[in-house]
Amino acid sequence: MTQPTLFVCALCKFPAAESGAGDTPGGQHLLDRLTDCLNAEISKGEITLQSVRCMAACDRACNAALSAPGKLTFIFNNLSPSQSAPDLAEFCRQYATAANGKVPYGLRSPAIKQATAYVLPPLLAEAAIPERNVSRMAH
Ligand code: FES
Repeated sequence: MTQPTLFVCALCKFPAAESGAGDTPGGQHLLDRLTDCLNAEISKGEITLQSVRCMAACDRACNAALSAPGKLTFIFNNLSPSQSAPDLAEFCRQYATAANGKVPYGLRSPAIKQATAYVLPPLLAEAAIPERNVSRMAH
């Protein structure tokens, strides 16, 4: 099993509809909640939670991305700092065990469906790119 990494922007602000927690940014609040929700998986090295500083989507806070070698990459935005952590943690667990990270749509929570902004295919090693695609890309 390839170890997924959940990247979360620690600097995202709380959305206007949510009250903040003192000086703590919304993204850091979300990271703290995720650390609690994923404590067991993080301790066992099954999921990595990585704080990042701005993902260039500040007007769609909070932002996160889930990726692993050979798997789809999910980009999430408009995550609630105070309510998204349980759904995001559950999606990380589903993603960790799903082939290619392709969690069946029907198994995704409504919050995850709503927050999913983009899904990218796995990166292909250069050697794995079919010859016809390499020549097409050269033009
Ligand atoms: S501050 Fe979070 S995306 Fe810019």
